[in-house]
Amino acid sequence: MKNKDLNLEHYTIFIDPSLQRLDDLITKKKYTSIFVLVDENTKKHCLPKLPVKAFQLIEISSGESFKNLQTCGEIWDFLLKNGADRKSLFINLGGGVIGDMGGFAASCFKRGMDFINIPTTLLSQVDASIGGKLAIDFKFAKNLIGLFKDPTAVFISTGFFDTLPANQFKNGWAEIFKHALIYNPNLWEEIKSLENLKIDDIERIVIRNLEIKKAVVEIDPFEKNLRKILNFGHTIGHAIESLSVENDKEPLLHGEAIIIGMICESFLSSKLLNMPQSELLDICTTLKKHFTEYDLSKISLDEVWDIMMYDKKNEDGKILCVLLEKIGKPIWDIPLQKADVESAFKYYIDLYEK
Ligand code: GLY
Repeated sequence: MKNKDLNLEHYTIFIDPSLQRLDDLITKKKYTSIFVLVDENTKKHCLPKLPVKAFQLIEISSGESFKNLQTCGEIWDFLLKNGADRKSLFINLGGGVIGDMGGFAASCFKRGMDFINIPTTLLSQVDASIGGKLAIDFKFAKNLIGLFKDPTAVFISTGFFDTLPANQFKNGWAEIFKHALIYNPNLWEEIKSLENLKIDDIERIVIRNLEIKKAVVEIDPFEKNLRKILNFGHTIGHAIESLSVENDKEPLLHGEAIIIGMICESFLSSKLLNMPQSELLDICTTLKKHFTEYDLSKISLDEVWDIMMYDKKNEDGKILCVLLEKIGKPIWDIPLQKADVESAFKYYIDLYEK
């Protein structure tokens, strides 16, 4: 069978549904000990599929609200009490929260140990598991404290998807739509009406998304320029997500918040960069069809704006955003005013009233 692996400069993304090659890699590296980070969901559904013989398990609670310094402290405490050293291996078995925080914890402990990402959600397979962004949330801002460090390897297995809840699939689709909109108009045309996908189709789409992300992060690993395009939908989306995590009983998932962000930022693309109206309509009707409405009227514009002021992409006190000149042609570092965000919220609310 044709090898579908993707080689980046420092590591390989193994497309390996049975995770067969994980054990070979671990044996070759001769680690002193192995730690596996899970949450209650991946412990139940994914850990039984991990073909690793001897390891120590670290379990944390699932959800973005636990991606913080306190949980990191608990991880470091466990590593300290259980003899972890710089030749230990840390395996992140889970979604974006596990990967972001586990990678961060592993990279800081004793100045760093190897870590392997085994992303178990669609979202983390197409986005967070590659590119070396590691972080935890701090105060009101997502991913405020962190670093760039590549994993030792990434293992992609669609074998985890048989227990993935439907809302987690949608969560992943948000980043897939984003990749298509910023990079590949053909992919956008192809995916916008896809339904009832089989597992082979999903693997093919995951690989196409990994290829897009690889192409971008290889040119600009530290987000000095091109990589900023991956933040389309995230300037407004992250701020809404932060408020939702703080205030909602059932907070928005990352992808759900990014969909709101992409609708708002597509509107701003037409307003500030003259993206064609036909494309705005195409994007917004497609996203609206797949994602239910969030009540934006309950969100305070002042609070959103305050959080946006902490955005990592800002420079010189200006809130900078990625917008689209057209589908497949993103422009970064576009300054936003508060009135722009207000008009985008109004567009979103009107869109769902139609
Ligand atoms: N998730 C955006 C990036 O990796 O740059």
